[in-house]
Amino acid sequence: MDHFQYRDGVLHAEDIPLPRIAEEIGTPVYVYSRATLERHAQVFRDALKDVPKKHIAFAIKCNPNLGVLRVLARQGYGADVVSGGELERAIAAGMAAEDIVFSGVGKTRAELALGLDRGIGQFNIEHEAEGVALAQIALAKEMTARAVLRVNPDVDAGTHAKISTGKAENKFGVGIDVAPEIFGRLAALPGLQMRGIALHIGSQLTSLDPLEAAFERAGRLVADLRAAGHSITHVDLGGGLGVPYRPDDDPPSPAEYGAMVARVTRDWDVTLLFEPGRVIAGNTGVLLTEVLWVKPGATNPFVIVDAAMNDLARPALYDAYHDFVAVKPTGEKMTASIVGPVCETGDTFARDRAIDAVEAGDLAVFRTAGAYGATMASTYNSRSLVPEVLVDGDRYIVVADRIAAGTIMAAERVPDWIE
Ligand code: LLP
Repeated sequence: MDHFQYRDGVLHAEDIPLPRIAEEIGTPVYVYSRATLERHAQVFRDALKDVPKKHIAFAIKCNPNLGVLRVLARQGYGADVVSGGELERAIAAGMAAEDIVFSGVGKTRAELALGLDRGIGQFNIEHEAEGVALAQIALAKEMTARAVLRVNPDVDAGTHAKISTGKAENKFGVGIDVAPEIFGRLAALPGLQMRGIALHIGSQLTSLDPLEAAFERAGRLVADLRAAGHSITHVDLGGGLGVPYRPDDDPPSPAEYGAMVARVTRDWDVTLLFEPGRVIAGNTGVLLTEVLWVKPGATNPFVIVDAAMNDLARPALYDAYHDFVAVKPTGEKMTASIVGPVCETGDTFARDRAIDAVEAGDLAVFRTAGAYGATMASTYNSRSLVPEVLVDGDRYIVVADRIAAGTIMAAERVPDWIE
């Protein structure tokens, strides 16, 4: 359920008609709904009601906007971060350092040190050398790093290859078969408190089966580690729950996910950590765009919009589907390809799709753009960096400015020795 609804034939974000935002801020622009974000945060937490000890760390890579993070911080969410930049954002947004989990396969020594200095709650170690480095850095600071070992459960998540992370051939975590030895060696290091394991098998999962298979493997590993004398108090189950992108998509609900987790982990006696991203933020945002031109094509017309692959990269990167609807639909339909102005055929949002009939000057939105949308934007083709707006009832505010192409250019220089 979201708060992007038609009122008197005009699409609104909560109580704000989208044409008002287009008029005052310009397009393209991301529009987020605070009420939707809060609702999703509550629904996910309620879904875990049968998990006695838990901590939810929003995967901020999917939407690191400070305004968005502040809303979630007020909901009691912590953060799953994957870089020093994300770590500083989470803290700037008001998240408590101990509620921050640091994931990521290529953390630098400087980033590990930053995590220690800021006092974060947990490091998710991806391989042995990283754990050794963390122990050394912590020891030098006379600190102890709380850490878990990320394991690769070798499960096929059944999602797009570019966002699958839990197969043996993926770069993430250590093989579950070698995990006990590596865990044993790391647990013996001063400076490290190895307290559990982590896993994350992929994103936009539309079945619970691979998650359940992975969690069962994790449960067996917890038992093995305990049998070897280790104290296991934390297991991080990652994120990955899918969201509906198409009107007829029917991914598992947070409640179904929560029930499965509660059942599989019933006897684990650990604190469970969760790193949801898309399921919280995906449907809290739309990308608002204006139709620039409708150009005849060989078969169907091209609807050329002012948003492009640099603003919303998912269709170009993963052939992802984002629903496209007119802000003021007439009831007429057309079949068209939706494309942006960037000079690549990959700058295509949809091919030969039945959509609301639109003409030049009309406004439309790409739905389900609140996760992995603005955060993946670039300035390719010297376009501006897309702005973001947060709506709250009948008010809204620009939570990220449009960064003009000229501002980007101003950060460049021409060496005088070229002359
Ligand atoms: N935890 C870890 C360690 C992750 O790597 C990720 C996502 C998450 C949690 C959150 O996953 P979620 O709940 O959002 O599925 N750019 C791609 C998605 C990349 C996901 C990367 N990792 C896309 O647009 O589909």
